[in-house]
Amino acid sequence: MMKKIWIIATLALGATVFVSCSKVRRDTGRVYMPDMSYSRAYETYASTEALKDEKVNYTAMPVEGTIARGDLLFTNTLAFDSAGYANSPSLVNPLTKDSSYKMDMTEAERLYLVNCAICHGAKLDGNGPLWKPSYGGDGPFPNAPANLISNPLYLKMAEGTMYFSVTNGRNNMGSYKSQLNPTQRWMVVTYIKNKQAAATAATPVTTTATADTAAAKPVVK
Ligand code: HEC
Repeated sequence: MMKKIWIIATLALGATVFVSCSKVRRDTGRVYMPDMSYSRAYETYASTEALKDEKVNYTAMPVEGTIARGDLLFTNTLAFDSAGYANSPSLVNPLTKDSSYKMDMTEAERLYLVNCAICHGAKLDGNGPLWKPSYGGDGPFPNAPANLISNPLYLKMAEGTMYFSVTNGRNNMGSYKSQLNPTQRWMVVTYIKNKQAAATAATPVTTTATADTAAAKPVVK
């Protein structure tokens, strides 16, 4: 009798062990300590509201006024309204303010080609593939992308205004605040100004408007 119980008990234990084994080695099977097996990390984009119940003060936002390491100090203090736009020429390009600064033009060109050329074109002529119907684009937009290389309006446009528009957006053009950091935004602006200077040196623009040639002079030596 006693022997039988032992045999049954051994078989039952063996069966349990056998059943609880899995061929899938990455499967943890029955979890003894869940906190050791599963990360308690919060899901991306999950609401942080529920965290408040757990007394976790996490807003996903840096403290107001925070400046990332290596970032530029307040280059844009203007409000995004018509007054801000009117005052935007006052924004000074911090990269070229110091003439000894050597900008990485290859990187500036890359940033332009990645972010801007889809509309403004690799040649800055406003003929980017997104706009041009002949390339299969959805265009034309009601307002074409600015021709940055030969339209006198943009040739004499202040760097600060360009920076302001790239930061905040302008009509059909969206804001690049989240895609490009302030340094990168000033880099693309410098790139445009350099391209303009090279183009106007080759073929001086004849315009009825008084073109401010000072604005088109090379900004990076
Ligand atoms: C989705 C298409 C599109 C992209 C991408 C785009 N732009 Fe534009 N951009 C436009 C259009 C359209 C205008 C004309 C806006 C207007 O004046 O109505 C414009 C205007 C401008 C102007 C003139 C702003 C002003 O104040 O009149 C500048 C400078 C400029 N873009 C630079 C850039 C730079 C630099 C990038 C890349 C970081 C870029 N754009 C990306 C469509 C685009």
